[in-house]
Amino acid sequence: MTTAAVHVMQHPLLQHKLTLLRRKDVSTMGFRRLLHEIAMLMAYEVTRDMPTQLITIETPLETMQSPVIDGKKTVFVVIMRAGNGLLDGMLEVVPGARVGHVGLYRDPDTLQAVEYYFKMPQDMHERDAIVLDPMLATGNSAAAAVTRLKAEKPRSIRLVCLLAAPEGLQAFHAQHPDVPVHTAAVDRCLNEHGYILPGLGDAGDRLFGTK
Ligand code: URA
Repeated sequence: MTTAAVHVMQHPLLQHKLTLLRRKDVSTMGFRRLLHEIAMLMAYEVTRDMPTQLITIETPLETMQSPVIDGKKTVFVVIMRAGNGLLDGMLEVVPGARVGHVGLYRDPDTLQAVEYYFKMPQDMHERDAIVLDPMLATGNSAAAAVTRLKAEKPRSIRLVCLLAAPEGLQAFHAQHPDVPVHTAAVDRCLNEHGYILPGLGDAGDRLFGTK
């Protein structure tokens, strides 16, 4: 079986902002702002090979053929709730994109993903899905979301996460070897509660100030 790629985004600006974001003394407001900025930088990296088409435009001096993307063909698929933290930054860079939502929670005992919400745009077979989940920890939620998403037959799927654990990458690719993962860092391991080490804590709680 061919295992899909793991792309670690090395851009210094992204790595710098990730360092700031990881610090435990960052406020909720600061966390949100940094994650927004990071999402914009990640959007730039993950859309690197997006197809373009030439259109005819008029510059002040002459007519030319110039490339544009068809943003509407992109669907950002948010895994709730922490995935929301990446959405606005991504939309700032690709404003025409559509948005789908997958609601999953992690059963605290089994650490398995349980689905409670699923809503996608129409005509998914014409669209490229970019799944947003900041923390690829056990990989269970992302794998369950992608399994469900595949039933809609999007043209392509890729996963964007801020941090990944080696265990999560392995578990995710065991189920979805065809889906590339784009991440800002692969951390050391998971702890016994399924948190990424060194990580940044609970992304949802830090984003929404719920703890
Ligand atoms: N979810 C989080 O928010 N943080 C982790 O470290 C693992 C899962």
